Amino acid sequence: MSPTIGATSRYRVFPFSSTIGSNSQLTSEINHWTQALGLQEVRVNKLLKLLSVPSLSMKSKPVFKLLSVSAAIFTIAVLLVLFRTSRVSAGSESDRDQDESKVRIGLSIAPVPLNFEHRDRRLVGLGSYIVNAHADCNGCHSQGPATEYIGPGNPYLLSPPNGPYTGMQEVNPATYLGGGRDFGPFGSKGELLHLYSRNLTPDKTGRPAGGRTFEEFLTILRTGKDYDLVHPNCAGTPDGNCLLPPFNGDVLQVMPWPVHQHMTDEDIRAIYEYLSAIPCIDTDIPGAPVLRNDCK
Ligand code: HEC
Repeated sequence: MSPTIGATSRYRVFPFSSTIGSNSQLTSEINHWTQALGLQEVRVNKLLKLLSVPSLSMKSKPVFKLLSVSAAIFTIAVLLVLFRTSRVSAGSESDRDQDESKVRIGLSIAPVPLNFEHRDRRLVGLGSYIVNAHADCNGCHSQGPATEYIGPGNPYLLSPPNGPYTGMQEVNPATYLGGGRDFGPFGSKGELLHLYSRNLTPDKTGRPAGGRTFEEFLTILRTGKDYDLVHPNCAGTPDGNCLLPPFNGDVLQVMPWPVHQHMTDEDIRAIYEYLSAIPCIDTDIPGAPVLRNDCK
């Protein structure tokens, strides 16, 4: 009995012949298939000729191979370019969307009326977003927690009947970014120096932080340079106007310029633009004439 393949198998190996009895039978099977495939090749080549594509014969095989390899490379390259372009444009679109929502939020949370005259509205909005939603400049550059919010608008307080908070935050416009919060006495033991946050509102020139140019402002945020030299290092006995070592009297203390220095130029420009658009405040604190601002 010759072994039977296919006849009893559920998955037939050869659809036309179910039995392979001997070697000669196997050879004739192989011949049959080679012939069949040959016929197929002839048919395919005829079709390709009709379509004027190089034939599949052994001779033209390398050309055909080369053509199909280059076609594949070309297709992959095109797909890659398409994919990248779509990703880049999707990326820049979402960046733009993000910027737009920051500008929108910034403009809606500014706690004081803004002067847009000669100002770039988009930069003002972005600056407000950084100042009021991120960097908390007013947390230090107002006169302190007791007056930073007006009573019923102070979110740190309880609501009635146990406290005044209405549920609506309200920043105090009378101290907003006007400076004067006392971070002193500062420095070494026995130090008398009072360290006040500065007035960031614009003066009569329209420039912020009491008339700073953008270049000065950029230098302050990048290096902490104190243009007013409010507290140089003490040369003699400490008198409350100088700073003892190891603190550097030439740079601003407390002010987080070592963090702000990592912001982009555009972000710093936006902060500058926003600070130029807020109302001027003349902050008068005894012993701190540097906080006075000439509004008119
Ligand atoms: C942690 C508190 C704190 C925060 C937050 C803070 N500052 Fe200051 N800033 C100060 C203090 C204090 C000084 C004065 C330091 C001194 O006299 O050595 C100062 C000084 C400055 C000065 C120098 C002013 C001048 O006329 O030379 C500028 C400008 C300034 N801050 C801008 C900002 C901006 C903009 C932000 C928010 C992005 C900010 N600060 C956030 C505490 C702070």
